[in-house]
Amino acid sequence: MEGKPTPDDPSDNEADASANRRWPTWRRLLLIVGAIVVGLLVLIQAVPYGRDHTNPPVTATTTWDSPQTQSLFATACGDCHSNETEWPWYSNIAPVSWLTEKDVKDGREELNISEAQSEVEVEEMVEVIRDGSMPPWFYTIPHPDADLSSREKEALITGLEATFLGRESTDPRGEEAESEDEQDES
Ligand code: HEC
Repeated sequence: MEGKPTPDDPSDNEADASANRRWPTWRRLLLIVGAIVVGLLVLIQAVPYGRDHTNPPVTATTTWDSPQTQSLFATACGDCHSNETEWPWYSNIAPVSWLTEKDVKDGREELNISEAQSEVEVEEMVEVIRDGSMPPWFYTIPHPDADLSSREKEALITGLEATFLGRESTDPRGEEAESEDEQDES
């Protein structure tokens, strides 16, 4: 039989009894919080958004300047900027599935190498690779290979320029050529 805690009696027994009384409260709280979290995670799986994992047909092919450029692009950019997206298992689980579907949808709208583009903005690609905004940082957590080293970035940039500017521009300065803004690509 246990009475109320008696703080004026700091014996070992008292400390044990007091700990025993506190634990259940702690545990109950943890259980409640845990149950709410699990319940919410289960509930949000019912949201229909995030299930669309379609890869539309590839209707345009890119003539890459080298297999290396192709592979760097596939590793760092292809999941969101092509129709050859690899959907990992966690892309089926909300809330990750929501973010995945939205990123792929928005990414493809901006740039999709699997479909004919009115124009491929090479300079924009170079810029986002240089400033590190692409690939997005959260993508590189489950895809560490996409976190390109500075050498890989330079190789990808040079390759993208050779691939997408090569036909228009034979400027031997390559990435130094900054004056393309004025060129009409269409
Ligand atoms: C996780 C998906 C994802 C990956 C991987 C990814 N992108 Fe993006 N990208 C997006 C999204 C979403 C947008 C549009 C919204 C935005 O700008 O953040 C975008 C926009 C862009 C744009 C348009 C300019 C801009 O900033 O809006 C370019 C160019 C681009 N990406 C290039 C790349 C390149 C090059 C790579 C690889 C080095 C890459 N992206 C990797 C999702 C991605």
